[in-house]
Amino acid sequence: MTVRVLFVCLGNICRSPMAEAVFQHLVDEAGLHDAIQVDSAGTSDWHVGERAHHGTRRVLRAHGIEYDGHSRQITAADFSHFDYILAMDDSNLDDLQAMRPENSRAVVARFLDFAPDPPTREVPDPYFDGRFEEVYSLVVQGARALLDYIRREKGL
Ligand code: 4NP
Repeated sequence: MTVRVLFVCLGNICRSPMAEAVFQHLVDEAGLHDAIQVDSAGTSDWHVGERAHHGTRRVLRAHGIEYDGHSRQITAADFSHFDYILAMDDSNLDDLQAMRPENSRAVVARFLDFAPDPPTREVPDPYFDGRFEEVYSLVVQGARALLDYIRREKGL
């Protein structure tokens, strides 16, 4: 059994690539590389093909985490491929719910809903204010809690 997790934000260059990279790092550390597949996508096509924002790359590098992904837009097929589709903010969640095919069995939720006591339920967009380090600390909280949840849920 493989558990498939997709992180989603607006542009797929700031928040969701950071969540993907941090979560992948935790998955690898836990020796679950073969059990959990991780990806990210944007609701928009604005940055398709681009590397992650330099702010995201810088903060990941500072914490010793590698990331080499490129932006892509979410597709209808993602709703049948992935088990968990996790939105960074409420606007992303609204967009996902609007495009979700009726037959999709994916859990579509906010990423930070898995964290027990986060300071906020939305991961703020650092694209305009540059607060990548703050976003990183939220993403780490969310990623740890999500991995604990999936391990319990799936017996991993
Ligand atoms: P992201 O951030 O959704 O976390 O990747 C953004 C990236 C680009 C834009 C907005 C947010 N933009 O307006 O182009």
